[in-house]
Amino acid sequence: MKLLFIGDIVGAPGRKAVKEVLPDLRARHDLDVVIANGENSAGGNGITPDKAADIFAAGVDIITCGDHLWDQRDVIGLLDSEPRFVRPINYPPGTPGQGSTVLEREGLPPVGIINAQGRTFMRGDLENPFLAVREEVKRLAPKAPVIFVDFHAEATSEKIAMGRMLDGEVSAVVGTHTHVQTADEIIFPGGTAFLCDAGFTGPHDSVLGRDWEPVVQRFLTSQPHRFPVAKSRVLLQGVVIEVDGATGRAMAVERVSEGLAE
Ligand SMILES: [Fe+2]
Ligand SMILES: [Fe+2]
Repeated sequence: MKLLFIGDIVGAPGRKAVKEVLPDLRARHDLDVVIANGENSAGGNGITPDKAADIFAAGVDIITCGDHLWDQRDVIGLLDSEPRFVRPINYPPGTPGQGSTVLEREGLPPVGIINAQGRTFMRGDLENPFLAVREEVKRLAPKAPVIFVDFHAEATSEKIAMGRMLDGEVSAVVGTHTHVQTADEIIFPGGTAFLCDAGFTGPHDSVLGRDWEPVVQRFLTSQPHRFPVAKSRVLLQGVVIEVDGATGRAMAVERVSEGLAE
């Protein structure tokens, strides 16, 4: 089976890229499952039920999130009642929403999806993601032969360590959050596909999806600035992973960086 994971969708340009590029990718790669990180889909900050509906309508099966989870008040609608929305699992017990889900579809093995958030160079108030993910993999493994982990983290070391810990336990570990696609795709010896960062889906004539001029001003002046979502050179970025549905082992991993016609 083939799975596409789409890196952080940024604003309206990112949503447009998913809508317009995904059908072609689906045909070309014969995709079975599409997972996307949606933490920046609402104007760059967070996600709302409306924006999630757009993304689902474009063909995404499951949306994951990250540190921008709480940027939009309306996210609570997704946390409370959207079974296709997954937030980082390492929030304290009692936090609304779910840190994983299992996608069941006719003709496919059940696919577990776990989202976790790193702690190195990030807000440090979440639980240990390594312990949380290890526990969750144990819980999901008996019912889902294929498990995908979106590890939303800043440090390459933390992400690689997560991939190594889970080698042979899950089908793939892919990083998000830095918005810069890395070129280190690999299948570890135990059969787990890994990529440090999937990149982002949105305008790349920018700093991580925002107009670059105010970001430069911010660094020059140390004063706050507004960071509007940029407009041009829109790319859908992510990774296609081919998995043996019976064993859960990854067989191929291929980065995607696909332009939207302007
Ligand atoms: Fe992001
Ligand atoms: Fe993030």
